[in-house]
Amino acid sequence: MYNMFESITLKSSPIKPALFLAPMTGITHSAFRRLISHFGGYGALFTEMLSGASLIHENLSYSPFTKKRDCEGKVFYQLLLSGKEDIKAILDRIPTTSPFGIDLNLGCPAPNIKKLKAGAALFQDNKRLNKTLGVLRKNWAGILTVKCRLGDDSKSWKYEFKEKLTQFEGNGVDAIIVHPRFTKDKLKRRARWEHFAWIAEHTTLPIIGNGDILTPKQLQDNRDLFSPLSGFMLGRIASVKPWIFREFDNEICSDKSETTPINYTEVWEILYKYTLEDFPPEKAIGRIKEFSTYYARNFFFGHELYSAVQGAKSLEMLYDSAMTFLNNNPKVSRNISVAGI
Ligand SMILES: Cc1cc2nc3c(=O)[nH]c(=O)nc-3n(C[C@H](O)[C@H](O)[C@H](O)COP(=O)(O)O)c2cc1C
Repeated sequence: MYNMFESITLKSSPIKPALFLAPMTGITHSAFRRLISHFGGYGALFTEMLSGASLIHENLSYSPFTKKRDCEGKVFYQLLLSGKEDIKAILDRIPTTSPFGIDLNLGCPAPNIKKLKAGAALFQDNKRLNKTLGVLRKNWAGILTVKCRLGDDSKSWKYEFKEKLTQFEGNGVDAIIVHPRFTKDKLKRRARWEHFAWIAEHTTLPIIGNGDILTPKQLQDNRDLFSPLSGFMLGRIASVKPWIFREFDNEICSDKSETTPINYTEVWEILYKYTLEDFPPEKAIGRIKEFSTYYARNFFFGHELYSAVQGAKSLEMLYDSAMTFLNNNPKVSRNISVAGI
């Protein structure tokens, strides 16, 4: 047992522990973040990526993408921008909901995001990136982070990445979240943790590492790879096990040993209930199905839960099929994989 990542301080604000929920479209909405808050163990949560247009037009205190409850604690808004938006107008609306910080998405490789010239496409374009960061920094006095991948080219990426680090530092970014895959990898291949050290060596900014971290043991066994980091971020595994932060906090970040047995049926039911509170029923069904795809990985025969839920044509069918599976004392899997989802 040793303590790592006990806290990180960004712009004089401590975050304890230095452990973050990753932004995930379709997953990290207000209902899911509310569920995660039941278990605690994290330092801060991220929304899914929020388009400039939605931030201008939506009621931010009401929309399930931006609304925050006190129980969630520190929440970052992740922005998806191309740089062509009226960034000042967007940022002028945000303080009404007072997020803890703003993050810029520079990693999303999806073709529809590329078409918008945002995500990884903004990361590629030095001039537009520099201008966008400059406008963000000028109009946002709070914490500003960026989330990126390694870049496009697995051979020459270091040269280009160094340029980005200079831009981030020059534009007053407070921390860099790195998901060490290349753009074309999407979520395939493995996250290349071995590059964290090189990145941390080449910048004065704190690096928060992300990608394929599933168990505290991985951090313990690969201490040399993770120790250059100032914090770490969990994505898919948090959707499989919304209580996972507490396990990491207990084993990695602090000397606590708070454990409560998990009631798998209750956790799913809470997510179901909260999603229906925040979304209209026709939207809620898709969100619950998406969560259940991950949640099903907890079980030895999870594909049965997955198929039953995906096939449900109504919320009632979905609820009944999930309850039939979960109330039948399903065998829990010891080795959880998030590959392929
Ligand atoms: C369903 C899904 C949606 C995602 N949406 C976003 C997003 O909105 N913004 C972002 O920066 N990354 C997004 N990601 C990437 C995650 O934040 C994270 O970088 C990636 O899943 C690797 O971390 P993990 O191995 O802990 O899941 C998404 C990933 C998944 C699986």
